[in-house]
Amino acid sequence: MKYSAKYSQLVMPQDTNILGTLFGGKMISWMDISAAKVAHRCLKDVEADSIVTRAMESIEFREAVQMGEWVNFESTVITVGKTSFNIKVEAYAESIGGEKRLACSGIFTMVSVCKNEDGTFKSVEHGLNLS
Ligand SMILES: CC(C)(COP(=O)(O)OP(=O)(O)OC[C@H]1O[C@@H](n2cnc3c(N)ncnc32)[C@H](O)[C@@H]1OP(=O)(O)O)[C@@H](O)C(=O)NCCC(=O)NCCS
Repeated sequence: MKYSAKYSQLVMPQDTNILGTLFGGKMISWMDISAAKVAHRCLKDVEADSIVTRAMESIEFREAVQMGEWVNFESTVITVGKTSFNIKVEAYAESIGGEKRLACSGIFTMVSVCKNEDGTFKSVEHGLNLS
């Protein structure tokens, strides 16, 4: 079974850097949310409170995104472990007029967790199988 999710954001003035294009930290934050969206879908019938981000890798900023453009995120679970999901996130910038280009990509590792009473997390098996 394929697990994927879509998510979009409009680049507003407060999202930009001093050059007036999308701030990289904001982009990563949105990619993290996009990865969380698909990971949440994987938690059906699982005794986990939620998922948390454990690692990010291969983040690549390919093209700048301008203020006023949309960013359309596509996240897909590519591999699973016992408690973890590896999720590929691709961020496509969409110009006014609808032209799309791959602006950023990365791999996010999310872990299914239960929350301890002291606010820390305990990883829990998600039982998910991609086949
Ligand atoms: C998530 C957390 C509970 C996991 O702790 P843990 O029980 O010690 O488990 P580990 O981190 O050793 O391993 C959990 C999974 O992550 C994987 N993992 C660990 N380090 C990793 C890394 N650097 N890169 C990719 N995967 C990694 C492990 O292989 C394991 O996967 P598996 O169970 O599918 O085999 C703990 O690390 C934590 O609370 N981290 C902070 C999370 C956080 O605050 N995120 C930001 C807010 S969302």
